[in-house]
Amino acid sequence: MNLHVALLPGDGIGPEVISQAVKVCNSIAKKFNHKIVWEEGLIGAVAIDKVGDPFPPKTLEICKKADAILFGAIGDPKYDNDPTAKVRPEQGLLKMRKELSLFANVRPTFTFPSLVDKSPLKKEIISGTDFVFLRELTGGIYFGKRGRSADQNRAFDTCEYRRNEVQRLVKKGFEMAMNRSKKLCCVDKANVLETSRLWRETVQQMEKDFPEVEVSYEFVDAVAMRLIQWPKQYDVLITSNLFGDILTDEASVITGSMGLMPSASLGDSTSLFEPIHGSYPEVAGKNIANPLATILSAAMMFKDGFGLEKESSLIKKIVENSLDQKVVTQDLAETNSYTTSEVGDWISNEIMKY
Ligand code: IPM
Ligand code: MN
Repeated sequence: MNLHVALLPGDGIGPEVISQAVKVCNSIAKKFNHKIVWEEGLIGAVAIDKVGDPFPPKTLEICKKADAILFGAIGDPKYDNDPTAKVRPEQGLLKMRKELSLFANVRPTFTFPSLVDKSPLKKEIISGTDFVFLRELTGGIYFGKRGRSADQNRAFDTCEYRRNEVQRLVKKGFEMAMNRSKKLCCVDKANVLETSRLWRETVQQMEKDFPEVEVSYEFVDAVAMRLIQWPKQYDVLITSNLFGDILTDEASVITGSMGLMPSASLGDSTSLFEPIHGSYPEVAGKNIANPLATILSAAMMFKDGFGLEKESSLIKKIVENSLDQKVVTQDLAETNSYTTSEVGDWISNEIMKY
């Protein structure tokens, strides 16, 4: 198959973890006879530095032409403590999500048997956890009207959802549940918020189209608690943009390392794949960051982006082997640690052996 991938390394550790994923994808392509054409684009703080725009039109064009987008990370500390900055790297990410209509953000949480001791939570609580969040990504309070009063003393952000925006996300949630354990949890704040009541109503209406799916409705504050108390009770969770942002960071702790979790943002025409960790500027350029989340995002790209399941499973299997054999970066190492590029090399070489 000919695969055209837009490659957006972005900021911080983005470029170094992306390079490892590229190596791994190229090994897969060689092994399964695919041809991958990579086209690189600027995004984030590096894009602001080079062209003054965190998501330049050229990058949008590259993404639109591609079959999938592989993305590293965004963010630079020089903007974090400057609330007056007019242009911010994160605007690039939000613009990309909106312009490409990447409305469904898929964030799985699962445990690796060899890593259950790395989690701050008890082994009995977390082992066997396997759930996935479906976070709405192009609406809600992230994109509502916001502003300040003339005297600067009042500020507001508005949360707005349209029925069709909710419907398309909820439909994906039901479909995903059908392919998994047929359990769906709608996470909202319907006891207070009108948008949440629209969500709940939409899910209730769609329930009859998916009679096999067992649906639960839970408030976001309760889910924040239950998620780390009984993570195994969940399968597919659907939620709005801001609730999903917060809960998926919380969920990432279950695994024991933020450096492991991949994600996908699905749109109508193209989809984006990225690690859930950020740009981690403290270690950028040191060749010590964990590349597994990005490599696993590439695995998701083969399955969800191209429908190539065997390729995807092989990457996941070799990643598991690397963990079992302790070929890991320092965040996971007990004694000997490997560098970012050594882990990437090991995985791409192992793929060729299979
Ligand atoms: C994420 C990030 C982004 C978000 C930021 C960088 C804008 O935290 O992808 O979860 O809030 O969506
Ligand atoms: Mn976030």
